[in-house]
Amino acid sequence: MTTPTAVTFSETDIDRLGDHAGRIGLIVDAAGRLDVAGRRVNRLCKGALKRALEARVEAGFKEGDSLTLAYPAGMAAEAVDVICLARNAAEIPARHAGALLGQKRGKADLLLVAGALRRAAWVVQGAVLRDYSFRDHKTSGEVPEGAIEVMANDPAAVEEAVAPLLAVADGTFMARDLVNEPANILTTTTFADRLTEMTALGLKVEVLEEDKLEELGLRTLLAVGQGSASPSKVVVMQWDGGADDAAPLALVGKGVVFDTGGISLKPAAGMEDMTMDMGGAGTVAGVMRALALRKAKANVVGLVGLVENMPSGTAIRPGDVVKSMKGDTVEILNTDAEGRLVLCDVMWYAQERFEPAGVIDLATLTGAIIIGLGHENAGVFSNDDTLCNAFLKAADAEAEGAWRMPLGQAYDDMLKSPIADMKNIGGRPGGSITAAQFLQRFIKEDMPWIHLDIAGVASLKSPSKLAPKGATGWGVRALDRLVADMFEKG
Ligand code: BES
Ligand code: MN
Ligand code: ZN
Repeated sequence: MTTPTAVTFSETDIDRLGDHAGRIGLIVDAAGRLDVAGRRVNRLCKGALKRALEARVEAGFKEGDSLTLAYPAGMAAEAVDVICLARNAAEIPARHAGALLGQKRGKADLLLVAGALRRAAWVVQGAVLRDYSFRDHKTSGEVPEGAIEVMANDPAAVEEAVAPLLAVADGTFMARDLVNEPANILTTTTFADRLTEMTALGLKVEVLEEDKLEELGLRTLLAVGQGSASPSKVVVMQWDGGADDAAPLALVGKGVVFDTGGISLKPAAGMEDMTMDMGGAGTVAGVMRALALRKAKANVVGLVGLVENMPSGTAIRPGDVVKSMKGDTVEILNTDAEGRLVLCDVMWYAQERFEPAGVIDLATLTGAIIIGLGHENAGVFSNDDTLCNAFLKAADAEAEGAWRMPLGQAYDDMLKSPIADMKNIGGRPGGSITAAQFLQRFIKEDMPWIHLDIAGVASLKSPSKLAPKGATGWGVRALDRLVADMFEKG
């Protein structure tokens, strides 16, 4: 488990700036104006800060820019990182400013000089979010080092504002760890174990094993896992922070711990990427963790379908027909279109058992969504404008890319099967949309629903503003905010 860097808070004391041995983070506006702490640093380093800044301001110093004074003479610090940010900056630029500090921290102790900065808490969250690295399998003594100290005029206020933001960062780290974990370590069983550990946070966690799933009739989910030595599971996580009688929001995640494609085997090149095919389940777990850590006043239930898609003598074959929990039959023409087979049963089970106020499913569902939207936006499919717009607004406020895609009868028609109620593939055109149409067949009438295809955003090959390369934890922030906006008000 990667634990977020420890953060402590203290009152502004500019007399300590000369003695801090790690890195110092200073926030300066675009005009290069120094506050009292900045002026002290400048005096300690005999004017070097002001001179460096003047040159930068001349060349154009704007939000997102930074300047580093390494080993400044007259100070114990190994570096002073100067970040450009307006005093009254909005949440997103404040978080990005913090991310620059988190990226530069390395193993040093970071002293963030926040003074009276309005969005100090967001700077802190950004620093923590970017300060992530997946080290669980490094044997060379690479243990995390260093901490973050926030010096502020009102440290108690910053600490209070930062608490829920750190809960969300913690949930994001959980999602990233799960996604980065290789499939020989994160089997369906260890995945379920990690989720079960969250009972310590006050979540109700229940693991449904194969015999139970068989009894309930989740046959399409079981079909996907039947070629694997790892048993298929559904894990149900409940957070009851809201009113007793309030219907919960249901989050459903695709948790294919490894997707070989099954008998419709994927090509060898890049197959290792399919260790992230449980990204939907990872995000659901991360959101549940964040909600529990910040004690959200809402009822939310998270369900994940954990399976491994393997080719073997017991695997499903192309052409097999399987009956879903709903009762509809599916002709499985391509065993690599397995995510929808997992989700459809879990979504149906979620609606039958919880009668939720809405269903949001997340899945690394199609390569086609990467062709359509690249790595900038997740695909958003919905039957309900109110829920969908609330989600898009939350995603925008959290700077998590999300783009609405269409649904429609003509796409649904592409799933017609000559021998069963539907096929599991609709052909290459509109591949992400036909996948979403397949899922919609398992959403009850009038049930508000969003499907998020996160194949392009769950894990990246290069670093992003808030994460190093690898898992991003996409969706934890947006969904946490959606819960706050829609389910915790009033
Ligand atoms: N897990 C994949 C989708 C995927 C692709 C996720 C790339 C992340 C990166 C999914 O199970 C899959 O194999 N989808 C097929 C569907 C096709 C057979 C209809 C695909 O996208 O090719
Ligand atoms: Mn697949
Ligand atoms: Zn898959």
